[in-house]
Amino acid sequence: MKMDIIQVLDKKFKKSIPSEQIQEAIKNLADRLNNDLKDKDVIFIGILNGAFMFSSDLFKNINFDCQITFLKVASYQGTSSSGNVKRLIGINENIENKTVVILEDIIDSGITMQSIIKQLKGYEPAEIKIATLLFKPEAFKEDFAIDYIALEIPNDFIVGYGLDYNGFGRNYADIYTLYVE
Ligand code: IMP
Ligand code: MG
Repeated sequence: MKMDIIQVLDKKFKKSIPSEQIQEAIKNLADRLNNDLKDKDVIFIGILNGAFMFSSDLFKNINFDCQITFLKVASYQGTSSSGNVKRLIGINENIENKTVVILEDIIDSGITMQSIIKQLKGYEPAEIKIATLLFKPEAFKEDFAIDYIALEIPNDFIVGYGLDYNGFGRNYADIYTLYVE
């Protein structure tokens, strides 16, 4: 089907996860969160830019009193040998003694999430839970526990539903996988 292939910049992508499947997985995830966290003082933290659609759709299915805010991960060249350091920007909510639920679009190697967790711990939340729309188990290199995973996917590059290729391709309701002819 022609409609299943999209062009983003110089690359072609093929539809791999239809929006109905994404929405179903998000509803199931929201059910688990509603059940597990309803009695806690919860603040969701969506990680921009990638998790904006996921955060929005998930949050509409949360049915207890809670808060949401958003943070951005800014990459900058560090002076240490580790090279690319990631810094969290935009924390102005008080998260002390709260249950923080990090909302991420995708966990690949896990390096970004590891860095986010480390920085958020400094603000002394009661606990930190991780909820990710997508997880690439074959690429994962860290050892933290991922509390909530909506969908596991193969180790291929994807776009759509908030995820980008060089800043483009975020605007699709479905998810598309890099297509090699
Ligand atoms: P990690 O640090 O390797 O876990 O990568 C996490 C970040 O890389 C995500 O927040 C995404 O921004 C980006 N990323 C990882 N895999 C993909 C992909 O397949 N498509 C688009 N972005 C991705
Ligand atoms: Mg991201």
